[in-house]
Amino acid sequence: RMKLAVLTSGGDSAGMNAVVRAVVKAGILKGCETWVVREGYEGLVRGNIEGGRAEKVSLPPHQPVNIKDESFLHNLRFGDGELLRDGTSDLPSGRSLKGRYIVRVGWDDVRGWFGVGGTLIGTARSVAFRTPEGRLTAAFNLIKEGIDALCVCGGDGSLTGADVFRAEWPSLVKQLLQQGKITEEQAKTYAHLKIVGLVGSIDNDMSMTDMTIGAPTALHRICESIDNIESTAASHSRAFVVEVMGRHCGWLALMAGVSSGADFIFIPERPPKADSWADEMCEMIQKHRAMGKRKTIVIVAEGAQDKDLKPIRADDIKDVLSDKLGLDTRVTTLGHTQRGGRPCAYDRIMPTLQGVEAVDALLEATPDTPSYMIGIQENKITRVPLVDAVAMTHSVAKAIGEKDFEKAMSLRDPEFIE
Ligand code: F6P
Repeated sequence: RMKLAVLTSGGDSAGMNAVVRAVVKAGILKGCETWVVREGYEGLVRGNIEGGRAEKVSLPPHQPVNIKDESFLHNLRFGDGELLRDGTSDLPSGRSLKGRYIVRVGWDDVRGWFGVGGTLIGTARSVAFRTPEGRLTAAFNLIKEGIDALCVCGGDGSLTGADVFRAEWPSLVKQLLQQGKITEEQAKTYAHLKIVGLVGSIDNDMSMTDMTIGAPTALHRICESIDNIESTAASHSRAFVVEVMGRHCGWLALMAGVSSGADFIFIPERPPKADSWADEMCEMIQKHRAMGKRKTIVIVAEGAQDKDLKPIRADDIKDVLSDKLGLDTRVTTLGHTQRGGRPCAYDRIMPTLQGVEAVDALLEATPDTPSYMIGIQENKITRVPLVDAVAMTHSVAKAIGEKDFEKAMSLRDPEFIE
């Protein structure tokens, strides 16, 4: 019987809770024992301290068929190191998850998680997991709990971490055996870690998938904000420079521009010439103003830059609009309002379908199959080798760093950006 743990890692995104819910419920329905790891990879490294094994939280022993009994935490919420009671629990007060990062969960524990923003099991950008010692401890903690399958939901960095962990796994097991931390039998039983990745990121910056979990919600949020900005911009006939997230990827900025009819957009993948972008932008905006537009919206991706790789900042754009066109200009940095909040419908449906596929991929995994990343391409849920998706994503960043923008675009999303 597969023991399956799910974790969320890196920057949170709307839809991560739907992933956890889908993986837990699909896992139970397919006969797995289901666990969550709190606080991302950091939780894997910390494991279950205070000598308390997570099973102590569990109520009855597993009942294979009756999913109604599959609740261990009684609908409690995961809080900051504590379980927060939601009023329905009959667990004795004071029961806490402090010191327990790898926790068995059941059917009812993830009820209602669909529509909640962020990630209820917590996430972190773990420094410890980036070290070989950290990953060795993480491997030990998993083996200690008897977990043989891991589902990671996170962005590019988190899936890179998953890929490294999987590649190192045999050597980690060997080291643990040599150090006498695990037995020969455990080394044999846990010789292979089954691992699967789901892409949770608002940036939509992962190659080999059309969409990442949380990107549609973030885009929706940006559009709402720009709608709000537009009315005040029009009232005062002002210009607004709106900075959006996306790290090194321009998808959010580009799509927000298309959805809101922005006047000008700056994205990292299509950098303008250092000495001409200001004039080009002004010419375009003047044209729009001449046509009677009372408002000007310029969207700048946080990773925007010119062809010489010099960052183009919102304040640089504001100065140009004020100085060259005499426009009364304001800058709005949307920041984390883009990342938080309730997931839109698509960020509930897609993670659910992908979560089910992730469980299937783990159940079907053999030592010879690659670890998969679950994606979506042309509206079909897909499995692609994790190692390939990670490598291709890194080659986009590399091409941008080498100023080979055509190559970067062709690797990222040739059809759309062209
Ligand atoms: O990767 C998601 C993201 O929101 C990026 O768009 C942004 O650059 C970054 O994370 C912000 O990170 P933090 O929340 O750590 O400030």
